[in-house]
Amino acid sequence: METGTRTPWATVEAERDAAVRTLRGRVLELGAGDGANFGLLHPSVDWVGLEPDRRRRARLAEKARSHGHRAAPLDGGAEDIPLPEASVDAVLGTTVLCSVADPERVLEEVARVLRPGGRALFAEHVAAPAGTATGTVLRLARPFTRVFDHGCDPTRDTEATVRASALEVAGVARYAVPVLGLVIPYVLIDARRPA
Ligand SMILES: C[S@@+](CC[C@H](N)C(=O)[O-])C[C@H]1O[C@@H](n2cnc3c(N)ncnc32)[C@H](O)[C@@H]1O
Repeated sequence: METGTRTPWATVEAERDAAVRTLRGRVLELGAGDGANFGLLHPSVDWVGLEPDRRRRARLAEKARSHGHRAAPLDGGAEDIPLPEASVDAVLGTTVLCSVADPERVLEEVARVLRPGGRALFAEHVAAPAGTATGTVLRLARPFTRVFDHGCDPTRDTEATVRASALEVAGVARYAVPVLGLVIPYVLIDARRPA
């Protein structure tokens, strides 16, 4: 039995989008996919995208140009970010820490490329509690989502991984989102590289 307050997806999406709108400066977006966040970024943002999937990166490059972002997206995984230390003001990841091969390594890289005091914003679906129907379904779905959904592992405790990293967590909003009879936990994590 899954208990607790449920939040409709539309509300979660609105709060996530509002957080993305507050990013400023040179922003590195990890696993930027098809550029779903372009419409949300403040016009002053100097966007740097990272996307390892060649086909998605090509579409992303086109969309980036149409949104006035001049830099072509970078090729590579977030486990080895091709940028120098302290070179960005903020890092953005939406539904990407579920997909990377090594989240701990990615967070090391995020802390490296952020300037001291720089901000990391992650919006992620995370593991459901053990013993819940959703937890069981996500565990069973994992082998399939790993193969067919951009490497997605729906059983990760991403908040714990961020808290264990060199980043300082400034705020976490936790949600339980009803989806097709399941209750998917989702987090919005606002963190900083210590100044
Ligand atoms: C579920 S999609 C999310 C895309 C986009 N962030 C969004 O919110 O629409 C996950 C993305 O992460 C990318 N990805 C997978 N492994 C990655 C890695 N190791 N480093 C960076 N991005 C990765 C995938 O290619 C895909 O574009």
